[in-house]
Amino acid sequence: MLLLVFLSSLFSNAASYSLVRSYSGQTFFDDWDFYGYWDNLTLGDVWWLNRSDAMTQGLAYINDAGRAVIKVVNSSNVPFNQKRNTVRITTQDSYGVGSLWILDAVHLPYGCSVWPSFWTKGILWPNDGEIDIIEAVNIMPANQMALHTLTGCTHPNTTNEVGAYLEADCSSSAGCTVGETKANSFNAGFAAAGGGVWATQFDVSGIFIWFWSRANVPASISQATNTSAITDLSQWGPPSASYPASTCNITEFFGPQQLVLDITLCGIWAGIGPVYNATCGSSGPTGLCYQDNVVGAGSPKYDNAYFEINYVRAYATGAAVPTPPAAAADNAPSATTTVNGSGGLKGSGSQRLDAGRSWSLGIFCAVQVLAGMILGGYMLW
Ligand SMILES: *[C@@H]1O[C@H](CO)[C@@H](O)[C@H](O)[C@H]1NC(C)=O
Ligand SMILES: *[C@@H]1O[C@H](CO)[C@@H](O)[C@H](O)[C@H]1NC(C)=O
Ligand SMILES: *[C@@H]1O[C@H](CO)[C@@H](O)[C@H](O)[C@H]1NC(C)=O
Ligand SMILES: *[C@@H]1O[C@H](CO)[C@@H](O)[C@H](O)[C@H]1NC(C)=O
Ligand SMILES: *[C@@H]1O[C@H](CO)[C@@H](O)[C@H](O)[C@H]1NC(C)=O
Ligand SMILES: *[C@@H]1O[C@H](CO)[C@@H](O)[C@H](O)[C@H]1NC(C)=O
Ligand SMILES: *[C@@H]1O[C@H](CO)[C@@H](O)[C@H](O)[C@H]1NC(C)=O
Ligand SMILES: *[C@@H]1O[C@H](CO)[C@@H](O)[C@H](O)[C@H]1NC(C)=O
Repeated sequence: MLLLVFLSSLFSNAASYSLVRSYSGQTFFDDWDFYGYWDNLTLGDVWWLNRSDAMTQGLAYINDAGRAVIKVVNSSNVPFNQKRNTVRITTQDSYGVGSLWILDAVHLPYGCSVWPSFWTKGILWPNDGEIDIIEAVNIMPANQMALHTLTGCTHPNTTNEVGAYLEADCSSSAGCTVGETKANSFNAGFAAAGGGVWATQFDVSGIFIWFWSRANVPASISQATNTSAITDLSQWGPPSASYPASTCNITEFFGPQQLVLDITLCGIWAGIGPVYNATCGSSGPTGLCYQDNVVGAGSPKYDNAYFEINYVRAYATGAAVPTPPAAAADNAPSATTTVNGSGGLKGSGSQRLDAGRSWSLGIFCAVQVLAGMILGGYMLW
């Protein structure tokens, strides 16, 4: 008993997280901003609708099961040189170090050209960091996770993580990527297994991402409600991706994070030759992402290009409550209100960040993107 108490005090899984916000049910979409512009960030061939258009066109809605659906339109014919409608939403609140975010979904978007993501971003990019929790493309078999930061944050190949270690340097163009090794984290298998849950701990001791397919979701999460706390992380097992603070000073490389859910098509990852061809090159007559997918009928190509989400919940530790002026950046309820109330923290700041995000990926893929534009004309400006 004494030993257990002693051991539990050594790990951050002894933390208690109180609920700050539950994005769920009929009010799921209330506290997000809709992008309302074409994808000028990752150069996907989509228009991310504003709130009213997304709702009236049926691309963001609550279904009969009470779940939030975010989708690519599959009922429209897209003429050559035009874009397809979809959605990108960003939380109005930012969540500081000391947060825990949990997403429970029963379906993830997939299919050739489809690039979905559930990720977080600071105000300035890459200065305030980015955490990619769900980010896979096309019909890749498994999810990938990553951090994006300034130089100086790395990911050691000795951490207690179950994912596949792919990249050390979090400032590299791809980020410090980890490939999911648990079954059914993406593609058709995710929904076939009943969906699953991701939990992301954004802590001074590190950033840790867990994934469980439905059958393996721990009781502390499956039994949580939209008002209860998360007090027991002891059954969670090792995370899929583990970024300990020993090689990445979290408070130095990460500011408060907004959560983002989006789907784009093609663009500077899913659409570039080698990435697209890896799983989809032979799926259409041209072998090109835009021509073979975005153009023409939307069904059946985009019938699976949707998120169906039970909830996204944001939690905070008591220890996360900072002193002013950092309070504006924290995720405690009162501080959340402060962030929400200061509009200057949203708007242009997030767009600068996103611009940086696309520049970074753009460098990574510049040759392929340029070649694609010249040869295929499939990147629309
Ligand atoms: C929270 O759960 C209750 C009971 O299931 C439900 O009535 C309510 O609508 C939920 N609230 C939100 C914000 O999801
Ligand atoms: C939403 O976007 C459409 C199309 O760009 C535009 O006509 C409409 O005014 C926008 N609505 C709002 C509320 O901004
Ligand atoms: C990480 O470590 C494992 C085990 O030592 C090794 O097999 C693997 O090659 C390493 N990966 C990288 C990218 O260094
Ligand atoms: C981590 O960064 C913070 C903020 O920049 C700094 O105050 C702190 O001393 C750093 N910690 C270590 C161990 O370097
Ligand atoms: C992708 O596949 C298509 C069709 O097979 C081919 O024309 C194209 O050269 C390939 N691109 C790359 C970058 O491999
Ligand atoms: C779009 O996809 C959904 C499944 O996500 C399907 O039920 C629906 O019939 C499709 N719409 C059209 C117009 O084919
Ligand atoms: C938070 O933002 C929403 C939407 O912009 C606004 O309606 C609400 O009044 C804000 N809350 C506070 C406390 O400023
Ligand atoms: C993307 O479009 C938005 C909205 O028009 C604009 O504010 C932002 O500066 C653009 N970003 C880039 C990188 O072009």
